[in-house]
This record gives sequence, C-alpha cells and structure tokens, in this order.
Amino acid sequence: MAGGGMIAPSVNKGYPGKFTGRVFITCIVAATGGLIFGYDIGISGGVTSMPPFLEKFFPDVFKKEVLNIGGTNQYCKFNSQKLTMFTSSLYLAALVASLVASTVTRKLGRRPSMLLGGALFLAGAIVNGLAQNITMLYIGRALLGVGVGFANQSVPVYLSEMAPYKYRGALNMVFQLSITIGILAAYVINYFTASMKGGNGWRYSLGCAGVPAIIFVLGSLCLPDTPNSLIERGKNEEAKKRLQKIRGVDNVDQEYNDLINASIESKKIKHPWAKLFSRKYRPQLVFVTFIPFFQQLTGMNVFMFYAPVLFKTIGFGANASLFSSVITGVVNCVSTLVSMATVDRFGRRGLFLEGGLQMLICQIIITVCIGIKFGLNGNPSELQQWYATLVVVAICVYVAGFAWSWGPLGWLVPSEILPLEVRSAGQSVNVSVNMIFTFFIAEIYLQMMCAMKFGLFIFFAVFVFAMTIFIYKLLPETKGIPIEEMAEIWKAHPVWRKYVVDENEKPTSEMVEEVKIAKEG
Ligand code: BGC
Repeated sequence: MAGGGMIAPSVNKGYPGKFTGRVFITCIVAATGGLIFGYDIGISGGVTSMPPFLEKFFPDVFKKEVLNIGGTNQYCKFNSQKLTMFTSSLYLAALVASLVASTVTRKLGRRPSMLLGGALFLAGAIVNGLAQNITMLYIGRALLGVGVGFANQSVPVYLSEMAPYKYRGALNMVFQLSITIGILAAYVINYFTASMKGGNGWRYSLGCAGVPAIIFVLGSLCLPDTPNSLIERGKNEEAKKRLQKIRGVDNVDQEYNDLINASIESKKIKHPWAKLFSRKYRPQLVFVTFIPFFQQLTGMNVFMFYAPVLFKTIGFGANASLFSSVITGVVNCVSTLVSMATVDRFGRRGLFLEGGLQMLICQIIITVCIGIKFGLNGNPSELQQWYATLVVVAICVYVAGFAWSWGPLGWLVPSEILPLEVRSAGQSVNVSVNMIFTFFIAEIYLQMMCAMKFGLFIFFAVFVFAMTIFIYKLLPETKGIPIEEMAEIWKAHPVWRKYVVDENEKPTSEMVEEVKIAKEG
C-alpha cells in the first residue's frame, strides 16, 4: 500500500486574503537570512583550495597539495583534520545556537532571533576577514555558526506564518532560494579572489560574508512580527490588525479565531519539548528528525562544500575547478526557481519522489566515472575532455534534482507541519539535526573519500534510495492545507492515524472512507 499521498484532507478551509505586496516584501527581507547560510556553505571549499590560505594556516596540506610532497593518491590529498574542522566547526556552533534560539523565538518573537543571528554573523565575518592565526579562524567560524543557528531557527517559521496558506510553499522557498544565491555568490567571489595578487584573496572571500549579514540585520530591524507570534505573547488586538494588513482584507475573523484557538491550546502546554516527544506528535517528530537527516545524507554538501576540491581531485586545473563550481551554483539556483513555480501545484510528494530518483541515477553514473578513471589507488590517467564534461554534467543533473526536491522541501515541510504548541521546539530539532549531519558530512567527507574512494557515492546512493521509500510510504501531501488545519492529515493517514486519534474518539464516516480509499489505492 502506498503512503498517504492520495488521501484528501477532510478539512480544507479557504481563509479570505490576497497575496499582498506587504507579505511579498516582508518575506523577501526575511529570506535574506538564507543568504548568510548559503554564503558560508559555498565559501569554505574555494578558500581551502587557495594555496596562500593553505600555506598560512594549513602548511601540511599545502605541502601535499601544492608541492606534491607525500604521494600522488588523489583520493587522500586534502585529508587533514584541521582543515576539515575549519569547515565543520561552524555547524557545531549552529547546532548549539539553534537550541537556545527556540526559547528566544518563542518568548520574544521571531524578529529578535533574526536580529541576533545577523549581528553575530557580522561579527564572525569581521574576525575571519582579519584572521592572523588559526585560532581567529575558528573563533570567526563559531560566531558565524551561532548566527546561522539563530537565523535558520527563526526564518522558516517566520515565512510560514506570514504567508497566505495558498502560497506558503513558494514563499517559504524564498529561504532556500536565498541559500542558493548565497552559495553562488560565494563561488563567484572565490573565482575572482583566487587570482588576486598578493595572496590575500581569501581575506576578501571570508570578509564579504559581512555583506549579506548587514542586509539581514537592516532587514530584520524593519520587519513586523507575525500575528501568530503576537498572539502567542498575548498581543491579540495588535495581531488582528497585523493580520488584516498582511492579508489585505478586513474580514480575517476565521483565520484570526483559528490562531487564537491554536494559541489557547498551545498555552495549556507547559513543556513544549516534552510534548513534542509524546505519542500524539509522533508524525511531526519523525519528520522533523528524518527530513533533515536524509537531506544531508543525499550527499549534496559534498558538492557544495568541496566542489572545487573535488574537481581538483578529479584532475581539473585550479581555475577550471572554481569555474565548474560556479556552474553547479547556477544550476542549484535556477532549479530552486523550478521548485517554487511547481510546489503549490504539483505538491511536495511529487517533487520529493522525482528528485530522489534523479539523484540516484546520477550518483550511479558519477561512481562509475570516478571508479573507471581512478581505480583503487587514486592515480588517474590523462584527463580527457569528454570525460570531464560527463562528470560535470552528471553532477549538475544531480544538483538540479536536489535543488527542486530535498533542498527546499527539507525546510518547507518541517516548518508547515508543526502545530503552534510545539512549533519552536520542533523547528529547533529540525535545525539541530540538519546541523549535526551537515557537521558530520563536512567532518568526515575528506576522510571517507580517502578510505572509501569512489564507493563513497554509492554510500550516499543507498540513503537516497531509502529516503525515497520513506517519503512514498509515510509523508501525506501537505499542499494547500492551512497550517492550523494540518492535524487533519495525520488522522486520515493509515500509518499515523493510530498515533494521533484519541482511542475514545470515534472516527467520522469521512475518515473511515478516506482510510478505505487509501488501502484500496
Ligand atoms: C541545505 C544545505 C545545502 C543547500 C544547497 C540547503 O537546503 O540545508 O545543507 O547546502 O540546501 O543548496
């Protein structure tokens, strides 16, 4: 039996309201939070492939890579614990910060979390740009990480709450789009700074992170808080006026009353963390844990963090490596637009399943290409043009698959399935799990490449296969369902029903009918 994809939700309220310019601008500004995250993801790979940077901070790697001392095994050239820590330390800091951010976001509002995130990120960019030694590098990365933790915890929730439900998917994805713009900007900047005279290009690359941070800080200062958050903090009148403004209509009673009811329910809950772990919230807990886990185990960040290093490993020259990374960055960005245009029409499940299949096929092709060329000892023969093109194309098609499925949906789906009472806590789990596994990938990729060789891509392919089955069996479609009505989809789902339906509550005839249809389907 297939998962709940074809089950129609029993409730589908249409709140009145327009897609106002105010919502649009607000969402664009908030989503710049994604820029700072993306910039970080994209910048470290290029910087760590710049010889002056390696010579100053990581002389061991410099000797192996630039001076070719210590063997010619391409798989192991960049394998250095200290170098890896430079990339991965940020995600460890982000992980801790996102847990604290949950309380700030809930008690003080979404905006203060965003503001704090931007300010810390700015501090990190300055310390990194001026770094004199490796300690300054690590401190800068940690500050950036705390900034990212706060921003990633608050921005997706903010976007989902501001958006009219009909456009929630596309608007929430503005966050992912700005992540991809941040990554692309970092690649382009690296491309130019790498060839700067004087060997200080890396300082510009790291310091430029201050630009998205300033945009985000200024943006957050001007943003209003969401009606949901105002109600959560007892400012009901203000919340109603805010709702009328952002929806562009006077009659917002139905949505407002639902928000009030959701807030009353949520206030009854004293310990949102404990609540999230209770049986009733099992579907949400499973998805906010497994979606970010699987998102990272797609292996996408191997390309995002280490694309220039990977291309160099395959045998590309320094410039060609950075340029190929720019190509993958453009594909990532454009494919996110495809997702935005289709997600509220085709739904989340369709994109998840298609994207998964596409990634799987490309991973197999990449494995075969690298395996044939490098064998087990990592010593390639002459690199031919057709071969290089094939690898770049396979990587680009893989990146496109991720960029219209697991990339944006990895942030959208968790943020839209969480009811208010556990929203901040659930989003923190989502961000933390994402950061743990982003850290894990950044930390072990270079070692894995050295140990598993071309088999590394098969490792990720196995996970992509598993996650596609996971979505097929367990995720109901959430397209077009108001956020406060989301509880209904679990009641109608054959697997989740038994967790969320009160044993004493009699199922309605509609529910029985839906479960029957699903079983037959
Ligand atoms: C992921 C990042 C990834 C990026 C690529 C995001 O959704 O969380 O880890 O690097 O997409 O575009």
